[in-house]
Amino acid sequence: EDATYNTMTGDAPIIIAHRGASGLFPEHTLKAYEVAIEQGADFIEPDLVMTKDGVLVSRHDPWLSDTTNVADHPEFADRKVKRVTPFGEMEDWWSDDFTLEELRTLKATQRVETRPQEYNGQYDIATFEEIVDLVMTKAAEGDIVGLHIEAKWPGYYDSIGYNMVDPILDTLTEKGVLEAGIPVYIQCFDPEFLAQFAEKSDLPLIQNLLPPEYAKLLGLDMSLENIPTEGVGPEKGMILNTDGTVSDFVTRAHELGLLVHAFTVRDDMPGEGWASSRDELKALYEAGVDGVWTDYPETAVEVRESL
Ligand code: G3P
Ligand code: CA
Repeated sequence: EDATYNTMTGDAPIIIAHRGASGLFPEHTLKAYEVAIEQGADFIEPDLVMTKDGVLVSRHDPWLSDTTNVADHPEFADRKVKRVTPFGEMEDWWSDDFTLEELRTLKATQRVETRPQEYNGQYDIATFEEIVDLVMTKAAEGDIVGLHIEAKWPGYYDSIGYNMVDPILDTLTEKGVLEAGIPVYIQCFDPEFLAQFAEKSDLPLIQNLLPPEYAKLLGLDMSLENIPTEGVGPEKGMILNTDGTVSDFVTRAHELGLLVHAFTVRDDMPGEGWASSRDELKALYEAGVDGVWTDYPETAVEVRESL
């Protein structure tokens, strides 16, 4: 391997399978994670929400209709209710209104219309424990794949009596994840959750970031200078400008000692001003990102190998 890297450590940037190989299979299913591992992802990314009985399951949203067939289950018709979310009031089915046993009667579906639909209804909702079991099994076979874990809306779950810190930590401890040599990052948009986590654990933390216009709306407008975590997870547009140039974000973050993991590269949806995900990946790698989230890990591996 001849490549030199502009990452903070000089090591190769990590490839994080965003919600698994979610460009190909319904996101957050064991199948999507398994395919990501086969394709050479260094990390898989579970986004976590909680069930009514306090079990961590892997879903991007507390609401269920975008990525499951819950709407096809007449027995749950009366569970569709209004809730106030950070995006405003929404009527939907909510993870914390379902026990794990009930969630197990649902199947995952593809969120994006233009992606393969033929797997809809084939795969279960995965628990965090099952995902940990998957990487533990791989590690026992000599294939070390990391966990890049995002707690979704921890403030919302906190407000209804479910703190997410201990359930995540307890699962990692009970399963012996760190002892097995499996690298783990904990990521979140909510700085309060990361601060809670830091009080109980030394795991490396990543503060996710949005471009200023969105960050302001959500009250998450942060200056890089004041971020206490190991690294940051910027939306890729904070690095890749729409005129095809690259910002100084990675340099500034590295000067402050912050790792940079950028989200999200998608073969079927390159960012504005970028012809392809390969161009984006090359630019991100050259800019020195320490990691990249992608829906298509195979492409990210290929482009990294071509450096
Ligand atoms: O967690 C990094 C990235 O995944 C954030 O975006 O909305 O896909 O979870 P989201
Ligand atoms: Ca995520």
